[in-house]
Amino acid sequence: MSESQIKLYYKNVTSEVIGPEHGITAEQLKQLAEKTSPLISQLDKEGKDGKTPYRDLPYSKEISKKVRELVAELKDRCENLVVLGIGGSALGNIALKTALNPYMHNLNDTQRSGPRLFVFDNIDPVQFGLFLDWVSNRLDKTIFNVISKSGQTTETLSQFMIVRQLLLDKLGPEGYKERVIATTDPEKGPLRRIADKDNLRHLEVPQGIGGRFSVLSDVGLFGAAMCGVDIDSLLAGARDMDDRVSCEDFYKNPAAVNAAINYHFYNRGKKISVMMPYSYALKDLADWYRQLWAESLGKAKDLAGEDVHIGPTPVKALGATDQHSQVQLYREGPNDKLFTFLQVNNFDRDLKIGPAPDCTPELGYLAGKNLSELLNNEKRAAEYALLQSKRPCLTVVFDEVNPYTVGQFIYLYEVTTSFAGALFGINPYDQPAVELGKEATFALMGKSGCEKLAQLIQSLTEIDGDFLV
Ligand code: PA5
Repeated sequence: MSESQIKLYYKNVTSEVIGPEHGITAEQLKQLAEKTSPLISQLDKEGKDGKTPYRDLPYSKEISKKVRELVAELKDRCENLVVLGIGGSALGNIALKTALNPYMHNLNDTQRSGPRLFVFDNIDPVQFGLFLDWVSNRLDKTIFNVISKSGQTTETLSQFMIVRQLLLDKLGPEGYKERVIATTDPEKGPLRRIADKDNLRHLEVPQGIGGRFSVLSDVGLFGAAMCGVDIDSLLAGARDMDDRVSCEDFYKNPAAVNAAINYHFYNRGKKISVMMPYSYALKDLADWYRQLWAESLGKAKDLAGEDVHIGPTPVKALGATDQHSQVQLYREGPNDKLFTFLQVNNFDRDLKIGPAPDCTPELGYLAGKNLSELLNNEKRAAEYALLQSKRPCLTVVFDEVNPYTVGQFIYLYEVTTSFAGALFGINPYDQPAVELGKEATFALMGKSGCEKLAQLIQSLTEIDGDFLV
């Protein structure tokens, strides 16, 4: 496995390429460097003062030791690992699964070196019910990992309460206890109380780390390690990136440059940020990024408590699929987007396109070419088309997709988010609007003490027949 470094390529956001009206001029880049440079030592100090504990995760030997021990204990008797969680307690697991498990992992025994992995981050009764039908006959070889930092998120706890009863009914208290790992706050919350009372195996969401910054903790490492992902390499990649994003020289610091460019374009009317991987493996990292960016940067108030209602809107697209779905809008619609492509130079495997049938000599240009060449040329074609329309394009270049480069990418975007939060002058680590939604759900589901809120919500959201057409 190569320990190559991912790189951020930013020439195609400059005025040299897309002109001064839309591109960043040399003078503007200099001003961005001046504004962002002091933040490098500021963020470094915040890290050292324990204000951003997510930055310590790649160095935590304790976490990886605990995860490894649990994996060694459980792996051989587990054919199915089912993760229950939502938001930051699921998206990292989904991203690692898609990036680092083979595509046919769940379906093909010969392609996997661990259990099948299912991550449920929703409560659709049809989907979950059909899955439970399937897994009910396999419970003796199944482990459920319920993940909730607060330990009280309605969706996750509802899933868990269904599974708990199923296990108790089918396997009894001992069987239930053997098949659940609870990942939650080390001290508080309902899930913590259940884990203690039911004597469940447990892992921790470290204190002071929000779900969307937690993938390199027990939250993401356990599922990945169970499936055979080299978590040492994942963490080593994150440490490699930590060195680079701590670099005092703005121009050599990929997180500082990335955040500064995003900040610049947001302030110039490009308030939508599209991440477009040209690799199926990286597809769900774009989803993970979407949550990281949206929950961290979408804020009503700045650090001084003033109303700002700020935040770039992250959008996920997939190359080449979305060239045939979104690119018409991206090129000819409003010039209000910054594009970030994810490009892979060397794919794990390749396929040669077969010979052109005799009746279609015009397809001869494709014959014998590799699919990777086609996919990467599609990326260049889409980028060219966007540049023709003066749309700014960044690219994150992966030499390969492997645990080391994925660890770098995760850490790069986490620290980019910290830089962007500092540039926007907001707190990127809270999510008050999500909390309000959670409270409202408690109220509507009849939690005691929330009756007034329930009434208020009902009066606002009840369907008024006069307006139904
Ligand atoms: O990033 C976050 O903090 C949120 O997306 C949470 O992860 C999400 O709301 C789930 O919360 P919890 O882990 O407490 O169940």
